[in-house]
Parts: sequence; structure tokens; C-alpha cells
Amino acid sequence: MANRKSNHTSRLGFSTRAIWTGQDECPATGATIPPIYQSVTYTLPQVGVTRGFDYSRTVNPTRAAMERQLAALEDGEYGCAFGSGMAAVAGAVSLLRSGDHLLATRDIYGGTHRLFTQVLARYGIDVTFVDTTDASAVWKETKSNTRLLWLETPSNPALKLSDIAAIVRRKPSGVLVGVDNTFASPCLQQPLLLGADLVVHSTTKYIGGHSDVVGGVVITNDREIGEQIAYHQNAVGAVPGPLDAYLILRGAKTLALRMEAHCRNAQAVAHFLEQCDDVEEVYYPGLRAHPQHELAKRQMRGFGGIVSFRPKGGVARAHAIAKATQVFSLAVSLGGVESLVCSPAKMTHASLTLEERLSLGISDDLLRLSVGIEDVDDLIEDLATALDVTAGATSVLPIEWKESA
Ligand SMILES: Cc1ncc(COP(=O)(O)O)c(C=O)c1O
Repeated sequence: MANRKSNHTSRLGFSTRAIWTGQDECPATGATIPPIYQSVTYTLPQVGVTRGFDYSRTVNPTRAAMERQLAALEDGEYGCAFGSGMAAVAGAVSLLRSGDHLLATRDIYGGTHRLFTQVLARYGIDVTFVDTTDASAVWKETKSNTRLLWLETPSNPALKLSDIAAIVRRKPSGVLVGVDNTFASPCLQQPLLLGADLVVHSTTKYIGGHSDVVGGVVITNDREIGEQIAYHQNAVGAVPGPLDAYLILRGAKTLALRMEAHCRNAQAVAHFLEQCDDVEEVYYPGLRAHPQHELAKRQMRGFGGIVSFRPKGGVARAHAIAKATQVFSLAVSLGGVESLVCSPAKMTHASLTLEERLSLGISDDLLRLSVGIEDVDDLIEDLATALDVTAGATSVLPIEWKESA
């Protein structure tokens, strides 16, 4: 029985895998729920022989359970967990070496942009940002040393989509495709099944789901890539602790239920905003007006929980709304059960220059909502009230963000 639970992947449904894969009963006690193994070291039966564990940076039973669970959710074979989403992105790009060239989606998370432009440059890795919404144009910037294309779809915060299968079909040989699947979660989109070579998540977001743990994971079906990432994971050591691994494993068990509620609420919020006279524009792949709505229907099983919008009245109004909401909390991050509102220009994407932000459509008056799973009437009422009370807002509130996120 124990082995049957561990060895399946796509033969069982998504939630069954989330609840059982990698989570055999404890062989010593029969504990049904994976224990939090705090032990750093493991007693060996004899020199040179282990029971599968020797030192917790290299391998830890709680972390291993979570890695197998998350790999199964992406229909992947190999999963490597990291101490944050950024550590996972850094783990994925450790496949590159000095002299390599990286292609990346233009509108990616600000922290990934910072890693690619500020850190990788110091290691002699060159990056070119491309518009990946047009699958036929993506590979035009390929060079002889291009090794990896990095996609983020839906993108943060403009919610633009990249057609993963169409892009992979045109892929030149020798180039890998990596997808940051954080916004969709494996519940809504499985890039490996669309031909990507590796997938990354910030498990801080939907997978953890409760905004109480920071983490990341890289998943692949390619043995060589899996081994290289595992080597990097151990060599660099940016691993999550056992308690964090447990929280991510526990959160992931309810991912499908939560995603259903996130999608339902976000769709209702997007419809509400779309019908408001004093909202300039709404960005949500679930709206018919979204330029890639058809692709979203084809590529995703739901449209996700993130809605961005620009209210009428410019930046002063936008900041006033972000301050006025009572249920939506003014905070960075996303994917938790609670609803959040943020100003990407001042918060999550503050590390980009004004020109870079504007070229990506991240105007100062853009607001991003992470729509939680509260009662949807309360969410809509909260936004309606915030729009009402800020109708005449003129002064810009001092949202100062010190480029930490
Ligand atoms: C799409 C995306 N990828 C990666 C990250 C980085 O994750 P973490 O904050 O867990 O390092 C974030 C964080 O917001 C994100 O939104």
C-alpha cells in the first residue's frame, strides 16, 4: 500500500496526488501524516551505509515528501525544493554557465528581473527580454549561445499570456524552456505536459496558500536536469527547513479546492470592476475582453486569482483606493487565502526603472489584486466602497517601497 501511494503520478486525480503522493505512513510508528523531521543528522547502521538519509541539507524526509508531492502535481519526475521562489529561480538558472545567453519574457516578476539583469550579468550571462505573447516572434533574438528561454505566464502584474506549446514547437535545438508557473499553480496549468523542460514555483504563493511560509521548487522530467538542480541544491544549500517543508506540503493538499474558490471570486471581482464607470481598464484572462482569452481557455483550467486594474483618477485615486479597502489588505505577495491589494509600480516592481515599467504597462496607477477566498460579496462591497469614498482623491499618498521584495 505504501509503495502504491508513492509511485503513481498521473494515474490518480490531482487532489488524490496532493493528499497521498510521497506521503507514506511512517515505517517506524505508522504516523499517517508525514512527521516534521527536525533532526539534522542520521545515525548510520555502518560506515558507508545509510537508510537513505545522512544530513538534512542534502536530504530530509519531510522535504523529500513535499518534493515528491509537488513533482507529482506537475506530472514531473524530479522535484527540488528551495528556501524561496527566488532561490528556486536561481537554482534553475544554475543550468547556465558563463558565456551563455538567456531569453526571458519581458514582463516578469521584479525580483526575477533583478536576478537576471543585476546578478547573472556578474557571472557573464547575458539576458535579452522578448515579447513572448507572440509565439512566432519569440525566437527571433536567439543567438548561437542561447541556452534557456524563461517564460512567466500569466505574467506579473499585467496578466499577459505566453502560448507554451506553440513556443516549444518552434524551439531551436539545444535551448531549454523554463516556466515560472507561480501565478497559475499546477492546478490550472502544467507546463511540462505542454513541452517545457522545467517548471518553477514560488511555493510562498498558491501552493503554500496561507501566507505563512516562504519557499520555492524546481520540477522536471529530465533526469540530467533533475540531477544538476539537485547538485546545486546541495552545493549551495538554499533549502527550506523541515517545518517550512511541512507547511508547504500541508498547504498543497487543499490547492484544488482553494484554486476553484480563487478563480470564482476573481472572475466575479473582474466582472464587477469591468462594469464600473470609474474604472479605466481591467486585466484578467477570464474576461472576454482580454486579448488572449481564447489562449487562456485552451492553456489553463481556470483563469486564476489575480486581477489588475486602473481606476479613473490617476495615481492619486489608485493609492487612495489601496489605502481605503478594509478587507483587501495593502500588502505585497499573492496566492494566500486572504485578499491583498498592491501598487506594483511602488511595491513589487519598484526595482525596474520608470521606462522599463511603462514599456511593460506597469503604470503608476495600476493596482494588482490577489483575490482571496473570502465571501465574494464582502470583496465586491469592499471595492465598491473604496471606489466611492475615493471619488475625488487628488493627493498622492506616500507609499515608499525600499526595493526589498
Ligand atoms: C511569479 C513569481 N515568481 C517568483 C517569485 C519569488 O518568490 P519568493 O518571494 O518566494 O522568493 C514571485 C514573488 O512574488 C513571483 O510573483
